[in-house]
Amino acid sequence: MEKIEHTQRNNASQRSQNKILELKNISKSFDKGEVLRNINLYVRQGEFLTLLGPSGCGKTTLLRIIGGFEAPTSGQVFFNGKDITSLPPYMRQVNTVFQHFALFPHMNVYENIAFGLNIKKLPRDEIRRKVTDILALTGLSGFEKRSISRLSGGEKQRVAIARALVCEPSLLLLDEPLGALDLKLRKSMQLELKNMHKKLGLTFVYVTHDQEEAMMLSDTIVVMKDGVLQHIGTPEDIYNEPSNAFVADFIGESNIFPGTYLGDNRVRFADVEFSCLPHPFEAGESVDVVVRPEDIELSRRESHISGVVTSSVFMGVHYDIRVLDDNGHEWLVQSTKTPGEGRRTYLTIGEDCIHIMPKERT
Ligand SMILES: Nc1ncnc2c1ncn2[C@@H]1O[C@H](COP(=O)(O)OP(=O)(O)O)[C@@H](O)[C@H]1O
Ligand SMILES: [Mg+2]
Repeated sequence: MEKIEHTQRNNASQRSQNKILELKNISKSFDKGEVLRNINLYVRQGEFLTLLGPSGCGKTTLLRIIGGFEAPTSGQVFFNGKDITSLPPYMRQVNTVFQHFALFPHMNVYENIAFGLNIKKLPRDEIRRKVTDILALTGLSGFEKRSISRLSGGEKQRVAIARALVCEPSLLLLDEPLGALDLKLRKSMQLELKNMHKKLGLTFVYVTHDQEEAMMLSDTIVVMKDGVLQHIGTPEDIYNEPSNAFVADFIGESNIFPGTYLGDNRVRFADVEFSCLPHPFEAGESVDVVVRPEDIELSRRESHISGVVTSSVFMGVHYDIRVLDDNGHEWLVQSTKTPGEGRRTYLTIGEDCIHIMPKERT
């Protein structure tokens, strides 16, 4: 865990040092076993933090623990330094947009959004002002009187988000809120969410299994696997220096090989010995090696790896080029130029493009 904490603390893009939320040694077991294991994590004031991982890794369970809908088996939740582990949801300054949100079908858009403010018994004109502001912010101006049944999926999702935002929670939890939308709508809602976060200065904890969505939205990404945190960092950190092969693979397409660190800035993988940057591994230690497809250079000049192009597909900006090397390893290369299918080619990898990492933590 220490390495993970360190990464997060070095995160330069944070706006504030205040930890609004802190999870200490959170574990959770259901009848069939442990689904969260010793989670240590903090969220800073104003941060957009995303829990990212494959389906079933425990994202929703962790979010429900933060919201107070689920109690951890062990560990504590702190809010602004105060232990809130046993506080019920309605006593937390937290609002949640659930994955399967439910709007009140018999109320119109205005009434749905105003609901929480009415419960708080705010003055009528204050409610009107707040709802009008949030309608504008979520692109719903003019929809006040529309009934819920006459909204599209994207409009309903906006109402659900507006309803949570209007109460100005210190912390907003969002569980895959865009999951049900089609690609184009999802993209435009992502931009809007990012703008809303910026304008309102609220703290967001967001859950998704979509790495691209996590990349474009977040200040900080927390990668999870099987209930264990794998990496905490900025999108750039996680892409450029993934903590292990699982993270590298989950975050983007990669060439991943088992290898051996040889000492003296040498590493062996894919049956070839390479120069690499200095690493704190023991000579002879087993490692995973990741090479991003865009970091491989193809040329006609002889180089450490020789192979034949087995496929070459134009992707719009670059080609996805598969190369089978003479030792039987397959490589994915991304390049704006292609040698063409069936051609012999040589692969060159700069020493700073060879990412060596410990075997993943489980
Ligand atoms: N109430 C529950 N009872 C039993 N098992 C649960 C419950 N909620 C979640 N789980 C299990 O916990 C694991 C993590 O689930 P979840 O947090 O929903 O993952 P994610 O949101 O990342 O898809 C899964 O194996 C799921 O089946
Ligand atoms: Mg979930």
